[in-house]
Amino acid sequence: MENEIKLAAGAMVSLAVATAALVVLPYMEVRDITPPEGLKPYTSAQLRGREVYIANGCVYCHTQQPRDRNLGPDHARGWGRASVPGDYVYDKPHLLGSMRTGPDLFNIGARQPSKDWHLGHLYQPRAYVPGSIMPSYPYLFETKAAAEPGDEVVKLPPGQGPEGKVVVARPEALDLVKYLQGLDHTYPVLPPPPRSAAGPAARPAS
Ligand code: HEC
Repeated sequence: MENEIKLAAGAMVSLAVATAALVVLPYMEVRDITPPEGLKPYTSAQLRGREVYIANGCVYCHTQQPRDRNLGPDHARGWGRASVPGDYVYDKPHLLGSMRTGPDLFNIGARQPSKDWHLGHLYQPRAYVPGSIMPSYPYLFETKAAAEPGDEVVKLPPGQGPEGKVVVARPEALDLVKYLQGLDHTYPVLPPPPRSAAGPAARPAS
């Protein structure tokens, strides 16, 4: 009996330590985080687009977490500054991603703001990037003989669309593009250094 009690006590202690380290401490670290001034909450169209992003598995090939300059060439690739916890306050669930088969998309809205480019690229990535291994998403679009009023016709590069027909974006494609255009975290997150830090006053007296 004594051994069972020891075993159970040992298990409880291990569980308590693990819970403290993996749940309680991280929660305490991020619970008071406020959104940075430049971060806007998602619009309802962007939230719907986010669902399309999740449903189509974009997260399996794209991260949303540029690394610090000292940890990798992400900044040199044009992916933006390293992200901070506050950048993610409106993200539920998180879409940080862990695979980079394609580029990081945390600032794709700033890097590529064109709706036409995004729609066309989702319809056929290889029309824009020859040899791209990104899948095309034809079911986010409709092929019609002629556009009807209110239709968003995708402006594909010459020779890339179905002959004699037009490609029209479905609402899911339009929402997804609004989400991608909104992925812009280029606002500053650190306050500018105090003036004196750069000036002569900050130098230690010699
Ligand atoms: C199998 C992996 C894969 C999946 C899944 C995938 N992509 Fe891509 N994506 C890539 C690759 C590779 C590139 C780079 C070549 C290109 O631009 O087509 C890319 C490029 C992009 C770009 C342009 C990035 C830039 O910096 O120019 C965007 C935007 C994008 N993907 C969005 C998406 C969205 C939205 C989804 C989900 C609907 C998605 N991707 C799914 C692999 C993937």
